[in-house]
Amino acid sequence: MKMKGVVLAGGTGSRLFPLTKVTNKHLMPIYDKPMIYYPIQTMADAGIDEIMVVTGGRNSGDFLRLLGNGKDFGLKRLNYAYQEGEGGIADALSLAEHFADGDKICVILGDNIIEGDIRKAADAFRSQERGAKILLKEVTDAERFGVAEFRGDKVIGIEEKPMRPKSNYAVTGIYMYDGTVFDKVNKLVPSDRNELEITDVNNFYIHEGTMTFDFLEGWWTDAGTFESLLRAGNLVAQSRMNQG
Ligand code: DAU
Repeated sequence: MKMKGVVLAGGTGSRLFPLTKVTNKHLMPIYDKPMIYYPIQTMADAGIDEIMVVTGGRNSGDFLRLLGNGKDFGLKRLNYAYQEGEGGIADALSLAEHFADGDKICVILGDNIIEGDIRKAADAFRSQERGAKILLKEVTDAERFGVAEFRGDKVIGIEEKPMRPKSNYAVTGIYMYDGTVFDKVNKLVPSDRNELEITDVNNFYIHEGTMTFDFLEGWWTDAGTFESLLRAGNLVAQSRMNQG
């Protein structure tokens, strides 16, 4: 079954100020490419060829100049949406409702970079009857992320940036959803940080009993802080050198 892709590249990148004073976080370099190239390539590599980029802020026009119709990724066309303000990841996702048009979608946060690929998970989700899938990664700084809570081998909930994480498994910014995701997004209320949280969407699926999960192989990093931005560049550089 068909699956479309949505890359979320809105927000102000305030944690990277002043780097993001005159440009968008997702246009900044990660080794030899702009950040946004990586999640788009991850999708293209998984056979996802209908993609929407959601962006925002004052530099959104630069995405069009940079990405055009997606030729660099072998795509025929790219779709764009503009997020007013920064109402959260789920708010940005809500802008893709018409584009998705009831189909399954794979959502990747614009600052998430991986070593490997998501082909296996994408194929598994294409044949999953309904629900959602998240990809987990073991980390040493779980309090920075959405964190999975397990009972036995089941994920029974996700906590967003918990002070005392209940596991070492971060929920990566790669999500797969069926067509009901927008009904769930439309039911959300803003969190304490005044954002519509993707973790709340995922918890809807968990409580409904339709969430599956996989463990992501290879390294994974976000790039939204000075430390992780530097790490992302170094990891990509190292991978390139290993590939010769
Ligand atoms: O990286 C994975 C983590 O991403 C998850 O483990 C967390 O559960 C999830 O909430 C998220 O956490 P962050 O606090 O790191 O997300 P951040 O606000 O940095 O936003 C990540 C990306 O989402 C950003 O690069 C662009 C997109 N975004 C974010 C916001 C707040 C938007 O498109 N619009 C927004 O309004």
